[in-house]
Amino acid sequence: MKKIQISPSILSADFSNLGEEIQKLEKAGADMIHVDVMDGHFVPNLTIGPPVIKALKKYTSLVFDVHLMISPVHEYIEAYSDSGADIITIHPEATDDLNASILKIKELKKKVGVSLNPETKIDTILNHLNKIDLVLIMSVNPGFGGQKFMPEVLDKVKKLKKIRDESKLNFDIEIDGGINFENSKTAIEAGVNILVSGTTVFKSNNGDIKKNIELLKSK
Ligand code: DX5
Ligand code: ZN
Repeated sequence: MKKIQISPSILSADFSNLGEEIQKLEKAGADMIHVDVMDGHFVPNLTIGPPVIKALKKYTSLVFDVHLMISPVHEYIEAYSDSGADIITIHPEATDDLNASILKIKELKKKVGVSLNPETKIDTILNHLNKIDLVLIMSVNPGFGGQKFMPEVLDKVKKLKKIRDESKLNFDIEIDGGINFENSKTAIEAGVNILVSGTTVFKSNNGDIKKNIELLKSK
């Protein structure tokens, strides 16, 4: 049974004070930091890039779980690796050659994740499951925090967990988008072992991050 981990998304943090926000997350018991990189092309929003990630690395020893919502992505993998990303997660639609992009991340000795948008089928990645460390299941259409959870994606989680167990593979299953205290237990029961959360972690219970992380884990 994999340990349940929380990867708070800094998209919902105070962008004018990200270093301090990351230190608060570490103190509050976060297992890793989910960094949402958006290019205004793959998704209709624009956030941060390698220079900011590099600057943030000195504020914590936690793993940087970097979610690249950018396309094209292949040409930028090395820059995110050099900036300090520990897990590099890409979207299949953002590369002409998913296999080559996965191998590039592995060559750089980083953990590789592949993210499936709500409408993307798991067939897209079945041939790659033995090469990747993590599948990121989007439970919202990527681009913004604070959206409504799409429970239908849990069918993909259940299928992936079954395939993983039957094939004796070991990839993590991470879910991202609209996770809150009402749906986190259902997601974990479906087979998720890493919960991404931005709004619930930063905004619930008057912004008591430690309480919110503990509540999400305890479900
Ligand atoms: C959306 C991002 C998510 C988002 C999660 O494109 O990938 O990580 O920030 O935020 P909440 O938890 O607020 O849905
Ligand atoms: Zn994300």
